[in-house]
Amino acid sequence: MRRMLLFSMLALAALGVIGCAARPDGGETGATAGNVTDGVSEKTPETDAVTDKPDEAPAALAAAYDGLFKIGVALPASVINEQARYGEVITSDFNSITCENEMKPDSILDVDACRANLSESYTSPKVRFTAAKRTADFAVKHGIKMRLHTLVWHSQTPRWFFTEDYTDNGEPVSREVMLARMESYIASVLGYYAEEYPGLIYAVDVVNEAFDTGDGDENGIRMKKSMWYETIGPDFVYWAFVYARRYAPEGVSLFYNDYACMWKQDLILNNLSRIKDEELIDGIGMQAHLSVGDSIAQFISAVEKFADAGYEIQLTELDVGIKSKEEYMSQGRFYENLLTGLVRLKKRGVNITAVTVWGLSDAHTWRRGEMPLLRDENLAAKPAYEGFLSAAK
Ligand code: GLA
Repeated sequence: MRRMLLFSMLALAALGVIGCAARPDGGETGATAGNVTDGVSEKTPETDAVTDKPDEAPAALAAAYDGLFKIGVALPASVINEQARYGEVITSDFNSITCENEMKPDSILDVDACRANLSESYTSPKVRFTAAKRTADFAVKHGIKMRLHTLVWHSQTPRWFFTEDYTDNGEPVSREVMLARMESYIASVLGYYAEEYPGLIYAVDVVNEAFDTGDGDENGIRMKKSMWYETIGPDFVYWAFVYARRYAPEGVSLFYNDYACMWKQDLILNNLSRIKDEELIDGIGMQAHLSVGDSIAQFISAVEKFADAGYEIQLTELDVGIKSKEEYMSQGRFYENLLTGLVRLKKRGVNITAVTVWGLSDAHTWRRGEMPLLRDENLAAKPAYEGFLSAAK
């Protein structure tokens, strides 16, 4: 009853911000961290009785899910650079962080250093970790763990990385050279975090989005616009996991991460079977870029199917798109039902270990105009937040 009341109250608070300017470019608004609690505890005559009770204050998400799974958030450097504004919202709700971009190959590969001494860097590409440093330091300071996203991906990996002279238009290198570069890159990245930030990384997206029937070969392994496929061939996924297992510290889970997992379970499972048989992989990361009209039952059944095949499961990039703020309540129910399904599975022994939302607020999302996250553009908690929270209770 109280839960319903709080849910309704949040809906009212949320609808109250309909008039706020949503910047079409998705940029940040002038909100301050103070807005965070305002959106939740704002008193109205109908809600005074509820909000006055301390036990009705919104509990932090991660604390609510303690003992179930980690609750994570993806953050760009721009958010981490404004800790006075966002720090408290992050630390009060999340115990896992994923860098939105700063641990991707295009952030880590150092083109100048690679070109400066070609003979030295030919099979040992040079790397630098400056882009993610503030995020890693922030996480350590606040006792938050991190997912490393991502080592091998066809996107956000520059073409020059695959060529003879590390130039954009150079000739692609041989399979042997590219395998050596892949091994070196994976060893450098995992080695850096193991040495500089021991214990910080708990999960690694070793390969991202490698299976796609439309852009794939006869087995659905992504072929089009993939320099990994072009240089190494279809077993680039296998070798990525061989190297990741070789260099990952004990206890760090290795993931294959992909979108549309509801529709490509067999494609994923078939293509991972050798990697799984050789115990080179631990989990499947289900990105979960969803919309409010999607079938939760279908999503949950995909989780069960992956779990039955022996995989650890994480939702790695959760967001749920809507068309307008009128759908805030439906979105809240969607989050609640999805998370309730996941909690049920977890309590039945399914190995779900983390759920990460792909952004801090609707001002920090790649899905411009779809308002897919738990907080609105002003950082006020939406019904989505309450729905997410309620499922843990
Ligand atoms: C994919 C990637 C993410 C991110 C989103 C779009 O899901 O895995 O890193 O780039 O696309 O923002």
